[in-house]
Amino acid sequence: LVFTAILFSSAHFSAQSSNEDEEDVKKSHFPDGFLFGTSTSSYQVEGAYLEDGKGASNWDVFCHVPGNIMNNENGDVADDHYHRYLEDLKIVQSLGVNAYRFSISWARILPRGRFGEINPRGIKFYNEIIDNLLLRGIQPYVTIHHHDIPQELEVRYGGWLNPLIQKDFVYFAKICFEKFGDRVKYWATINEPGLFVNRAYIWGTYPLGHCSKPFGNCSSGNSDIEPLIAMHNMLLSHSMAVHLYRKQYQMKHGGFIGIVVNALMYEPLTDEELDRQAVNRALAFDLYWILDPLVFGDYPPEMRHILGSELPRFSPTERKLIKGSLDFIGINHYSTLYAKDCTHSACTDGEDRPIQGFVNTTGYRDGVAVGGLTGMPRFFVVPEGMEKIIDHVKKRYNNKPMFVTENGFTPPEKQSEQVQDLLEDIDRIKFHKAYLAALARAIRSGADVRGYFIWSLMDNFEWVHGYKKRFGLYYVDRQTLNRTPKLSARWFTSFLTNNSHSN
Ligand code: NOJ
Repeated sequence: LVFTAILFSSAHFSAQSSNEDEEDVKKSHFPDGFLFGTSTSSYQVEGAYLEDGKGASNWDVFCHVPGNIMNNENGDVADDHYHRYLEDLKIVQSLGVNAYRFSISWARILPRGRFGEINPRGIKFYNEIIDNLLLRGIQPYVTIHHHDIPQELEVRYGGWLNPLIQKDFVYFAKICFEKFGDRVKYWATINEPGLFVNRAYIWGTYPLGHCSKPFGNCSSGNSDIEPLIAMHNMLLSHSMAVHLYRKQYQMKHGGFIGIVVNALMYEPLTDEELDRQAVNRALAFDLYWILDPLVFGDYPPEMRHILGSELPRFSPTERKLIKGSLDFIGINHYSTLYAKDCTHSACTDGEDRPIQGFVNTTGYRDGVAVGGLTGMPRFFVVPEGMEKIIDHVKKRYNNKPMFVTENGFTPPEKQSEQVQDLLEDIDRIKFHKAYLAALARAIRSGADVRGYFIWSLMDNFEWVHGYKKRFGLYYVDRQTLNRTPKLSARWFTSFLTNNSHSN
């Protein structure tokens, strides 16, 4: 069944990419002032993992345990962006973008969280990035937290599993607002909390590597409620930081603050009503889990109905704090999956792991492939999924301003990899044209989308997959760390500069 779905959908992608509309997508199809940029995150590009006063992060420690990461790779050096940032910002400028999204390494600013001093060299590093971007006419778009926390917080109290982290997060966010807020106008508090808590506490593939039955090979953790608790702490941390920003900084500096979610689209595997309901459950457990509390003040009824008292509750005061704690929704969109009802039968999650038992209660891992292949498991090329997810978020959340904070492609891996093939990345160009065209259609239908960021500026450390996955517009040679533009970098520049205002 899975196989058939993949074949069907690959054909579908080639048909899509030769569509005239998509070939013709132009910058002028997007509103004035629209942000076009590229994204990175601290651990994935910076390296210099213990330099200039930086403390160890959860990822530094996790990657040093043999077997946790493909080929035992790690972010110790990554793209060495910490030392090469000037060269990288020149590259950003040469692309012709007007925005650049990056994240701040918590352990570079606060090596020991609240339990130690601020690291002035960390502050200096991000100040230089921000000032350099502004000098080049590029808006800094800052993620406060993108998966990496000081290890001290894990050791002291269990990181996101402990409500104490809320205090730490707000302390960190305050330092960011205080030191950088006069120049940064776009703040995203947390990147992909849903994906993070699932990987860290169910799949065991992100630090601390806890597993919930029946996933993974590890024996630590084990509680099905860990992701729910970690998410609760993340949502409260987010809203406390937003509250602080609005009270003390927003008026003064006139910025925008939101969150970034991993927004997969789902299609029912069949026309059966039960599969349609599975789509709704999938969206609830992926997306509404985060956005419903932040927009409406509580978890989605779809989740409460299934999880009952296992799902934490917000106190009345917390509910007030959390409701409306968003100026925008950041959308990372990479894929569309089929959802199949698994309440009455065994299902697999698309990576062929059995999930019976789990989905009997939640139904949120029942995706199989829709669309052409990429080099990432569960990432399939389905451009219209972009239009659908944007339209969906628009409708459910009353057309809150949105940014596509990530969209990107890594090619399927080949046995003998030729650098030339990686540089002549026609498939990536097709991918972005098709997704941009779908986004333009969503905007034409009234969605308030204000930006589009390509993941990523350059090849980098793709978490558990190490350096084999290459999402960059720039190729990074792992030996020399030299950056070379791929064809897609040149395409993006021409897309951004050959602008005929023919709306
Ligand atoms: C989303 C994550 O935010 C980013 O860190 C990751 O590299 C990309 N997806 C690609 O998987």
